[in-house]
This record gives sequence, C-alpha cells and structure tokens, in this order.
Amino acid sequence: MKGLILSGGFGTRLRPLTYTGAKQLIPIANKPIIFYGIESLVRVGIKDIGIVVGDTKEEVVKTVGDGSNWNITIEYIPQETPLGLAHAIKIARGFLGAEPFMMYLGDNILKDNLNDLVKQFQKNQPNALILLTEVNNPQEFGVAVVDEEGSVKKLIEKPKEPPSNLALVGIYLFDKEIYGAIENIKPSWRNELEITDAIQWLLDNGYRVESQTVKGWWKDTGKPEDIIEANLLILQDIEPDNQGKVIDSTLNGRIVIEKGALVEKSIIRGPAIIGENSRLSRAYVGPFSSIGANVTIENSEVECSVIMDGATICNLENRIDRSILGRNVVINQINESPRTHKFVLGDQSYVQIIK
Ligand code: DAU
Repeated sequence: MKGLILSGGFGTRLRPLTYTGAKQLIPIANKPIIFYGIESLVRVGIKDIGIVVGDTKEEVVKTVGDGSNWNITIEYIPQETPLGLAHAIKIARGFLGAEPFMMYLGDNILKDNLNDLVKQFQKNQPNALILLTEVNNPQEFGVAVVDEEGSVKKLIEKPKEPPSNLALVGIYLFDKEIYGAIENIKPSWRNELEITDAIQWLLDNGYRVESQTVKGWWKDTGKPEDIIEANLLILQDIEPDNQGKVIDSTLNGRIVIEKGALVEKSIIRGPAIIGENSRLSRAYVGPFSSIGANVTIENSEVECSVIMDGATICNLENRIDRSILGRNVVINQINESPRTHKFVLGDQSYVQIIK
C-alpha cells in the first residue's frame, strides 16, 4: 500500500509562523510535525510515500529528504494551487496508480498507531475507510453522521450547524473508486475540491464507506493553541535522555537534553526537551516546554511553550507561558530608563504584556 501525505496549503491560521515556513515543519518536541505522519505510515509497513507540496516545496524537500532516513522512498508531487484535498489526490493519481492507499494530512498528529485501521480495510475491503473522533468544535472540521452500527450515513465539511460532534480525522484509506468520485464533485464555497464531498459521493452512489473511532488523542495543528496542545501531548510520553552537560542545576521529571546543550544554575521540570547546543543559565524551564537547538535562556522563565531554534530570551521579569517563539526570535529585558518597549514584529505577530 502506498501513502500520500499532504504538505501543501497556506497555513493562514498559523501566521506569522507560516510567513517564513511550512506549517508541517513547525517542531513539536523538536521534531517537524510532518515527521510524525511519515513515522505513522512507516509503522504500518508503508514504504512508498508521495508528499504533495505547494509554495514551501523547497524547505519541505530539504527537511524531509528522499526517505532514506526511514528506509523508504519519498516522491514529491507539486500542487501549483491548494485547490483542496480531493484535488491533491487527483494530481497524485500517476504516483498512486490503481492500488489502495492511505492519505494522511501533514498537519495532523495521532497517538494511536494505524494497525487496526489497515487491518479493517484489508479485512472488509470497503471503498473508503475514515477515522472519526468526538470534538467540542465540530463546525471547524468535516463532520460525520453515523448510525448505531457505525455505518456512515452522511458527511458535511465544516457545517454551521453540525449534525453530530464526530469530526473526520485527517487520515483516510481509499481504493481506486475515489478517482471517479473526485471527477464527479464540484468545488465548494471555499473553492476547494473537498475530500468530504468525494466520500459523500461514494455514499450516494452505493459504494461502501466504513469508519473507525480514534482511541487515543488526535490533534489537527491548524492554530497556535493546537501547537501548544500537541506539544504537551507528545511530551507526556517522552523518554528521558541526557546527552548534554548539567552543572549546579535541579532536574525533576522526564527530561531530554540533547547533544552539546549546557544547563547551569537552572531548574528544569519535565516533561521537557532542551535542543542541541542550547544554553540555559539561571533559567527555569517548566513542564511541557520544547526548547529548540541553539537557544539561549538566561535569567528567565519559560513554561508550556515551544521555543524554536536560535531564539534568545534574557532577563525577563515575568514568566513566558503557553507561547510560541519562531526561529531566532530575541526577547530581552533591559532595566534602563525611560522604560519603553522596543518591538520589531512581523505582520500578525501577537504580544501580550501583563502589568
Ligand atoms: O484535520 C482534519 C480536517 O482536515 C478534516 O476534519 C476536514 O474534513 C478536512 O477538510 C481538513 O480540513 P482543514 O481545513 O483542516 O484542512 P487544511 O486546509 O488545513 O489542509 C489539511 C492539510 O492538507 C494541510 O497539511 C495542508 C494540506 N493541503 C491542503 C489543501 C487545501 C494540501 O496539501 N493541498 C490543498 O489543496
């Protein structure tokens, strides 16, 4: 079975982070989001993956490579404009051929492994198998109506008045009938060929669509608060490891310190990860923090945050909490008069100062 990972699109809800990079490359516990998807596919034995890429193709290719890291083959499929998830399948048809395939949205992270999903698909051989989970905000997803036996009755993309709280998770299994369905649907109000509409077409035309429900947690990392949440969930299961140098510091809980990192006169409360060659001095790093590579934290406190590579945080009076700092961001407090703020912030940056 081949795999198709979607890594195109614009990532508008994650600006300003996505002005300079692909949303699928944002690090969660110091690993690009898309790696979690690739590894899920690898774990079920998929060895041939196509990745649909858009404007950020170059950096996705540079970060992910040709698949040799995972002993698999990765092929890139350029999508000129993000015209929808079903459009992505349409342009990938040459790569996918007539065999069944798994589609995985590159901004999704799932705790469960996908073995049961693949098993159900192989045993029952439906035309489509979708994954569902209960959510509090169904209007933000594709939504399914399922009867008592678990048969899918109806699917709607981002309904204003959701008929259920069962959201479509961004992981799907299809056989070749999906191509015919895609040929028969029209672009939606957001001008996208929706995969949800294509699956509805399968239902309307007598094809078999089965579902399975997620057991563990699932995150669509579409918005900043989802990144914080996904980071928290991944760090919960982190395996402690110390390859750095710790001097005169207190470490509690599960902590990963990567190669070349230096922690001095600091406190770290896990779960947390400190990236390669980062330097913490008189710092406090609290639970659920991911500190990237080459980060400096001096005389400052960080908790439940994602701090990306090369950032510098110095002499802050207040703790940084539930925050995301992009690459090479500098936050520095200077105790001088007059007491002014000095900002160089990109479009749609967000700063909250509490006095
Ligand atoms: O995450 C689950 C949800 O994903 C489902 O509940 C929805 O039914 C499904 O439509 C999808 O909704 P989103 O609005 O979250 O999709 P998004 O535009 O964020 O795209 C998902 C991924 O696919 C993302 O990594 C970008 C990529 N993509 C998206 C489009 C529209 C492409 O590669 N090409 C595209 O044309």
